[in-house]
Amino acid sequence: MLGLRGVGKTVLLNAFEAIAEENGCQTALLEIDPEKSLAQQLAPQLQHVLHRLDRLKKTSSDLQRAFNSLRAFASMFKASVGDVDFSLAGSPATGDLAIDLTDLFVAIGDAAKKRGAAIVLLVDEIQYLQKGDLSALIMALHKISQRQLPLLLFGAGLPQLAKLAGDAKSYAERLFDYPPIGPLDPKSARHALAAPALREDVEYETAALDYVIDQTGRYPFFLQVWGSHCWDEAGNSPITLADAKAATKAAIAALDEGIFKVRLARLTDRQKAYARAMAEFGAEPVNSSDIANSMNLSLSQAAPIRDELIKKGMAYSPERGLVGFTVPKFDEFMRRAIPATVAKRKAKA
Ligand SMILES: Nc1ncnc2c1ncn2[C@@H]1O[C@H](COP(=O)(O)OP(=O)(O)OP(=O)(O)O)[C@@H](O)[C@H]1O
Ligand SMILES: [Mg+2]
Repeated sequence: MLGLRGVGKTVLLNAFEAIAEENGCQTALLEIDPEKSLAQQLAPQLQHVLHRLDRLKKTSSDLQRAFNSLRAFASMFKASVGDVDFSLAGSPATGDLAIDLTDLFVAIGDAAKKRGAAIVLLVDEIQYLQKGDLSALIMALHKISQRQLPLLLFGAGLPQLAKLAGDAKSYAERLFDYPPIGPLDPKSARHALAAPALREDVEYETAALDYVIDQTGRYPFFLQVWGSHCWDEAGNSPITLADAKAATKAAIAALDEGIFKVRLARLTDRQKAYARAMAEFGAEPVNSSDIANSMNLSLSQAAPIRDELIKKGMAYSPERGLVGFTVPKFDEFMRRAIPATVAKRKAKA
């Protein structure tokens, strides 16, 4: 799933996990930490999966092989997998992550197949994987797909993931589907606001609902924030247009003091200056050469700053040359947070 911040990717991954569990699959859900290697993050999860396969009580050589493969893998890539006795390590790992991860996936996939089980890996924030880790993961899944083993990956990440995966392995675009996740459709957006209120016998006036739908752009995280503030502003049912307008003010103030501010604080000065220049162009993705021009920088001076913002998950590139913010309304926030005169003065300095 590819989508901007706050569209509901993590919510969906959790829902998929629940569905997989209900259907008797063994699941492992992890959120990629850019500070850690994939091996370190994956090994404990896979050990958990193997233990659960083991409980299906058909211990046999193939499961032993999978455990051995995991031990060798964990030892090679310095991953901790709890109470593992490395003296039992089986066929030695090569140290090449692509080869070793493929062997490990195949061993685990084989063991699952023999038990009539399926394994579902759910990986959040995949765009944070290092390039080598991403390409090893893709290669391992390629082999799984060729062997038709019951191991599935559901991933979620920012839109640049499709390009990162394609750059890592050109066949990635054929191996995966990349469903885009975006704002809710109008009916679902109204439902997301009105249904929880109605459960408490509170209704929205139509004008209030229309207004909130418009203000939030049907963007899930904002629907949550606006809904909460509408609830707090309204004295009683129904929630009126005046309540919704007051809620908008409160919601924007809360975002400014909350996630927007936090995200701005993570930027260096030159990244802030780039983001501010970018914000001047509005909400839609803009040509990065226009941003460079407006900052009086050459393209090659500006490109590294843009790439830093993309790597930090602040910006994304919907297509070559274009760049946009990953959080809706962030452009408006930047213009509020750093007024134009201050931005100009800083740029000159
Ligand atoms: N289908 C939905 N209907 C209504 N609200 C939703 C829905 N999905 C998500 N939300 C709201 O949006 C919020 C953000 O969802 P979620 O954390 O899954 O986004 P995300 O895409 O993972 O964002 P990020 O990229 O920042 O991790 C949720 O906490 C919830 O309030
Ligand atoms: Mg998420």
